[in-house]
Amino acid sequence: MKFGVLTGGGDCPGLNAAIRAVVLRAARKGHSTIGFLDGWKGLRDNLTRPLLPADVASIVGTGGTILGSSRTNPFAKEAEAALVLSNLKTHQIDALIAIGGDDTLSAARELHTRGGHVVGVPKTMDNDVAGTDWTFGFDSASTVAVDALERLRDTAGSHHRAIVLEVMGRNAGWVALATGLAGGADVTLLPEEPYREEAMLEHVRAACTTRGYALIVASEGIDLGSLAGSTGSQDDFGHELLRERGVGAELARRIERRTGIETRSAQIGHIQRGGPPTLFDRILATRLGAKAVDLALAGRFGEVAVLRGGALTGIPLSEATGSSKRVSEEWLDLMRTFEA
Ligand code: F6P
Repeated sequence: MKFGVLTGGGDCPGLNAAIRAVVLRAARKGHSTIGFLDGWKGLRDNLTRPLLPADVASIVGTGGTILGSSRTNPFAKEAEAALVLSNLKTHQIDALIAIGGDDTLSAARELHTRGGHVVGVPKTMDNDVAGTDWTFGFDSASTVAVDALERLRDTAGSHHRAIVLEVMGRNAGWVALATGLAGGADVTLLPEEPYREEAMLEHVRAACTTRGYALIVASEGIDLGSLAGSTGSQDDFGHELLRERGVGAELARRIERRTGIETRSAQIGHIQRGGPPTLFDRILATRLGAKAVDLALAGRFGEVAVLRGGALTGIPLSEATGSSKRVSEEWLDLMRTFEA
């Protein structure tokens, strides 16, 4: 068989480990692989590169993606969808492995409904893909955010300040949750809960009274009403660029104005998306990439490789797309245990 592989959507650590796993698993079973560049754009515009085992031999621990990525949705226009199908034919691709989050996997689902032979691999630092316990990229991004919070703790303590750390995550609060839990935040604000200003201020005051400083983790997706930084600009899939709204800076202004406590904010943005993947992400990406090849070899097109309760399985792309996995009440309850 001839495999094709692409990485779409926002990049995250672990993509190269997954590409490596696809290429080497396929090669081990006697099959070849080529890469499409910059996500679905490469398949639409016929941008490819060879992927020999030697090309992926030393990328398991590198960040980014050697294939490049974009937020292109070729299925929004029928003419572009036709190009995707004809390019698959031109390159005689028997199985396409699409590595991405909800947008990329939704495009894969579209391809499958048009008869394309595709298998998905879920990735995103947001950890919001439905049907899988974890996505790779999340552990690495959250580890970076925890490191940032620990650094902020030092300086917040020295200056007796409150500091807000804004983290990514779009409309799911997994990164904020993990950062708050593992980094010991006094209050964590997620899009899954309505914003309650009075309660948040109480936690900040309590932490400053007992310890002399406060740490607040805020997910970029929380709703603080209309904000000055919002441009409303959207990507190809219709998502607003939430980072531009600046919820962390706005929270810092509100805390300082309402409590009189000197407050600062930090936004780590795309720093969360770079750097080497953690051990967890390397292993997860490796397992999922290899599993996707196995699913394709078994003819299970239209499925996505997922992790459930520690084991790998394949589920229909339709089950993993269309709705995002949000932080559950059980997690929220655990998080509240540690609020100041
Ligand atoms: O979906 C991953 C993600 O990193 C989100 O957490 C964030 O909102 C978004 O991508 C940023 O997108 P861009 O790369 O277009 O700035």
